[in-house]
Amino acid sequence: MGKYIIAGNWKMNKLPSETYAFVKEIAAATEGAQCEVVCCTPFVCLSEAVKAAEGTHVKIGAENLHFEDKGAYTGEVSADMLVDLKVDYVIIGHSERRQYFAETDETVNLKIKKALAKGLIPIVCVGESLEQREAGVTMELITGQIEKAFDGITAADAEKVVVAYEPIWAIGTGKTATADQAEEVCAGIRAVLAKLYSDSSAKKVTIQYGGSMNAGNAQELLSKPDIDGGLIGGASLKSADFATIVAAAK
Ligand code: 13P
Repeated sequence: MGKYIIAGNWKMNKLPSETYAFVKEIAAATEGAQCEVVCCTPFVCLSEAVKAAEGTHVKIGAENLHFEDKGAYTGEVSADMLVDLKVDYVIIGHSERRQYFAETDETVNLKIKKALAKGLIPIVCVGESLEQREAGVTMELITGQIEKAFDGITAADAEKVVVAYEPIWAIGTGKTATADQAEEVCAGIRAVLAKLYSDSSAKKVTIQYGGSMNAGNAQELLSKPDIDGGLIGGASLKSADFATIVAAAK
């Protein structure tokens, strides 16, 4: 299906002073990777991360951006700033940002459009809460998130977007979705994209699973036809674990 991408989401971990050596460690540990390898780091680590990744196969991503070009938005970071740093990817709409920082489907859509307009690759996160899963509304909820995220985006641009299915109840909890549960939703996401665009466009989109993916369960999850990679939190902070996940993606 889509290109295989394993991306680490460091979240609010690692110091700028630790970043250069850690990205070098990741690059060495994942040498010969048969998938795209991405480290998404805090804003303040990006410049060191890009320096360390230069000349290696590792790509660097941010964890957020603002949807305006510039101006009076104290504390925010624009797409141009990320491009200027030579960042390639940006995570958009992570559930932690939706939950704690008032991210909405509307701001997610604006951010995706801005990222695409500036040549950044958006990694767009969708996922249901435990209550929503138990209420049986998972696919309905995710269909809505995908439709709103891709609103006004052309097929050519949509094919560049990476979608990460991250069930909120599986994030940082050690409770992974089973491979079948993850595949069901990832296939559902591809079906929504096929309806919005076409089968051929939907097949080009990389759909990742995220949520307690680790060295032990990555292989089974990644063997599913509609799971084209992973968005890794905790296990991306240990190079050996991250490298095992990368090795499982081929
Ligand atoms: P964990 O891998 O720590 O569960 O985090 C997943 C995640 O939120 C990645 O964006």
